[in-house]
Amino acid sequence: LENGLALTPPMGWMTWQRYRCNMDCDSDPSTCINEQLIKEMADRMAEDGWLEAGYRYVSIDDCWMTKERDAQGRQVADPKRFPSGMAALGDYIHGKGLKFATYGDIGAKTCQGFTGFQGHFEQDAQTFAEWKVDYLKVDGCFESPKDMARDYPAFGAALNQTGRPIVYSCSWPAYMPSHCEKSDHCMDSLVEHCNLWRNFDDVQDSWDSVKSIANFWRRRNASDEMVRAAGPGHWNDPDMLLVGDFGLSPSQEQTQFALWAIWAAPLFMSNNLRDIKQSSKEILLNREIIAVNQDLLGHQGFCVGGCDGDLRIWAKPLVGGETAAVLQNLQEGGDGENITLTMAMLPWKSRRIFKARDLFAQQDLGLFREELTLYVHVNSCRMVRLSDVIEMMV
Ligand code: DGJ
Repeated sequence: LENGLALTPPMGWMTWQRYRCNMDCDSDPSTCINEQLIKEMADRMAEDGWLEAGYRYVSIDDCWMTKERDAQGRQVADPKRFPSGMAALGDYIHGKGLKFATYGDIGAKTCQGFTGFQGHFEQDAQTFAEWKVDYLKVDGCFESPKDMARDYPAFGAALNQTGRPIVYSCSWPAYMPSHCEKSDHCMDSLVEHCNLWRNFDDVQDSWDSVKSIANFWRRRNASDEMVRAAGPGHWNDPDMLLVGDFGLSPSQEQTQFALWAIWAAPLFMSNNLRDIKQSSKEILLNREIIAVNQDLLGHQGFCVGGCDGDLRIWAKPLVGGETAAVLQNLQEGGDGENITLTMAMLPWKSRRIFKARDLFAQQDLGLFREELTLYVHVNSCRMVRLSDVIEMMV
């Protein structure tokens, strides 16, 4: 969507994966969806280095609203859990230098049964603009997939009419049985009408879930519609990061972060920033990996070698002729394997002598000719940036 927004993949924090629809604030006062949770996360984001690293959107997913509209037909926040209301919460978030993100649903109800936008597109868009929302995720429950190609653009037009710049996140391919793989115009329409869109299933807090998303992504190559659709202002969204949660080992956390970075994916954490392991924090705040994700060229990386097997190579072209690559070992037994990335695997112009830097170790690895071989432990990955290339005189 050419609205001047999301020129690099958006970064932030979102409630859903970690906090779901927990509304029991009497039993779980620190983990239920209420304004206190959002304010505490905003405080952490502003004070603990997250905002400086680029994580700026604070996103309240499903379950902030009521099941009925007010007397004027407007959406309202649950008065018990959000007693100050959404506008005041937005002001609090903005006061910290952060951006205010929230959620709604294009259909009759949200997935958890709260008020959806159906029949109220203009009114709801206006309400979000009045609340000074900067980013809206629009889910697709309680709506027939065949109506989505009409309704998502219509709601986007209503948002545009408000005059407020609002990043528009769509969920439409995630609800189509073919995930847009079998529809020629699906991606074109997403690029035209949305700043980002969820392509596939919801992420769950497990390595199996990350693998299933990666298996969907690995089938794309340079000429794939999905890869070509990504770019400044319009991104594929493989869903939230699990780093800092319970389901991944430290090396699996590294791998999820590396893959999301190389895919130019939106980077939304969904964790407890009030109490996060140092090792997880280091992964999420790795500036060199964030720089790969936020590279201004905005190319989505893809699998360039071993894509059907357990030793995979992913690569992404960067500004200035540099390349980022992830060498991933998916084996579950043994110790590890050497994985070799050759320049011939890269479908863009790549030089034969290059310098490599290890982005997790933050160490230069030296100069290489034609290929780079790295030892990669099972269930983990290495991530490199290839640069300062010298052309061979032949
Ligand atoms: C389905 C979405 O894909 C999730 O990310 C989350 O927003 C839930 N709905 C909320 O009900």
